[in-house]
Amino acid sequence: MAAEDTVCRPLLSAHELMEDPYGGFGRVREEAPVVKGLWNGHPTWFITRYDDVTAVLMDRRFATSSTSLPGGTDEYAEVMAQMGIDRDLIPYLAGSLVYTDPPDHTRLRKLVLRAFSARRISALRPRVEALVDELLDALPGHAADGTVDLVEHFASPLPITVICEMVGVPVADREQWRAWSLDYTSMDARRLNTMLSEISAYIRGLVGQRRAAPADDLITGLMLARDEDNDRLTETELVTMVLTLVVAANETTPALIASGIWALLTHPGQLAMVREDPGLLPDAVQELLRWCGPAIVAKLRYATEDVVIGDTLIRQGDHVQVVPGAANHDPRRFPRPDELDITRDPEADRAPHLGYSRGAHYCLGAGLANQETEVAFARLFERFPDLALAVPEDRLKWKPMPATRQLASLPVVLGPAARLRKTSARAGERR
Ligand code: HEM
Repeated sequence: MAAEDTVCRPLLSAHELMEDPYGGFGRVREEAPVVKGLWNGHPTWFITRYDDVTAVLMDRRFATSSTSLPGGTDEYAEVMAQMGIDRDLIPYLAGSLVYTDPPDHTRLRKLVLRAFSARRISALRPRVEALVDELLDALPGHAADGTVDLVEHFASPLPITVICEMVGVPVADREQWRAWSLDYTSMDARRLNTMLSEISAYIRGLVGQRRAAPADDLITGLMLARDEDNDRLTETELVTMVLTLVVAANETTPALIASGIWALLTHPGQLAMVREDPGLLPDAVQELLRWCGPAIVAKLRYATEDVVIGDTLIRQGDHVQVVPGAANHDPRRFPRPDELDITRDPEADRAPHLGYSRGAHYCLGAGLANQETEVAFARLFERFPDLALAVPEDRLKWKPMPATRQLASLPVVLGPAARLRKTSARAGERR
C-alpha cells in the first residue's frame, strides 16, 4: 500500500453523506478537482468538476468492471462473496449491464436498445397517461387525516407498472417486484440471496411461458434474439437483464418524481410557470435532474491504464468515483448553480446535466423516465391546484442511501380536485 493510502480518510462526514450529499460533495469539488478518499473501505479518487466528470465518463480507459484490468479479477463479485452472497447467484448482480465493459457491454446493450428507442417510448405515452390518471383518481381514497404520501401512492407505483408491462412481467406481481427491489438495495446478504433465487426462478418461469406462447414484450424479444444465434444471450444474461431493468426503473424514477414534486412545491414561482405553460415541463424535468437528480454518484470506475486528470496521475488499477451530483452544481459550468431555474437557456447557461451519466453507460431508460415524470407532473398539478406539503420542509426524511437521493415519504395535502377540461393539458406539446 502506498504511503498516501495509509492516511486516506473518508472525504465526507456520515452526516454529509446521508443528509447533505450535494453540499458535502460540493465542498469537495471546491477544495480540489481530483482528490483521494476512502470509499467503501478502499482508497478512491473522487472527481467532482463538470468537465472532469464528463471526460472520465467518455473515456474508454475507465472501465466499470475490474475484469477489464490487465490480469484483473472481478472485485465486485469478490465483495459480494465476502458479504455472504451465494457464488452461483453472484452473476445476476455482477453481470448487470452497468458492470460490463466492451465487447460484452456492446453486445448486451444492443439487444435492449431498440425497446427503448424514442419511437417506442413515444408510443407508450397514452398508456402512461392512463396509468397516471388511474393513480390520481385513487389518491383521495388514500388520504389519512387529510394527507397522502405521494411516494407510496403515486411516485412508486407508476414506474414499476410501466416497466412490468414493457418487460412482460404480470402487473399483478408488481408488489412482489417492489419488495424484491427493496431487497436488492438492502445490502443484506440473507435478503439478497432469497431475492436472487426467487427472482431467477420466477424469470425462468416467464421465459418458459413465452417459449410456449410468444408475446409482444421485452422478454420474448430478448429470448428470440438469443434463440436466433444461440451464443448471444445466455439464460443467466437474460435473467440478469430483466432483473436489471425492473430494479433500475423501480429505484430511480420514483426518486425523481418525488424530489421534483417537492422541489416545485417549495419553489412556487417555478411551479406557477409550469402550471401556466405545461409546454415548459420537458425543460423543467431536465433542470430538476440537474438540481435534485437522484444519481449522486455514478458506478465505480477502474483506470485500465495510467491516466492524467488535470495535474493528477491516476495509476492503472486505481478506483475512480465520479460524482454527477457535484458536477451538476459546478459554478464553472452553471451560472447560479444552486438556483432552481426551469427557464435556463440551453445555449447560454445550461450545459447538459449529468443526471443520467454520459458515454457508454448513459442511462438506457432516460427517455422513459423523462416521459413518465413529465406526464406525472402535468396531470398531478393540473388535477390538484392547491396541492401543498403536509409537513414543514425540514421534517421531510431522505432515505439513508449515499449513492441515490430519495425521499422516504412525501406527505401532501391534496386540496379539492379541479374540474378538468375534456382534453387536459399535455406535457411536451411544445417540444
Ligand atoms: C430518473 C430516473 C433515472 C435516473 C436518474 C437514472 C440514472 C442512471 C445513471 C446515472 C446511469 C449510469 C451510471 C454510470 O454511468 O455509472 C444509469 C444507467 C442505466 N439505467 Fe438509468 N436512471 C433512471 C431511470 C432508468 C429507467 C427507467 C431504466 C429502465 C428501464 C434505467 C435503466 C438503466 C440501465 C439498464 C443502465 C445501465 C446502462 C449501461 O450500462 O449501458 N434507468 N441510469
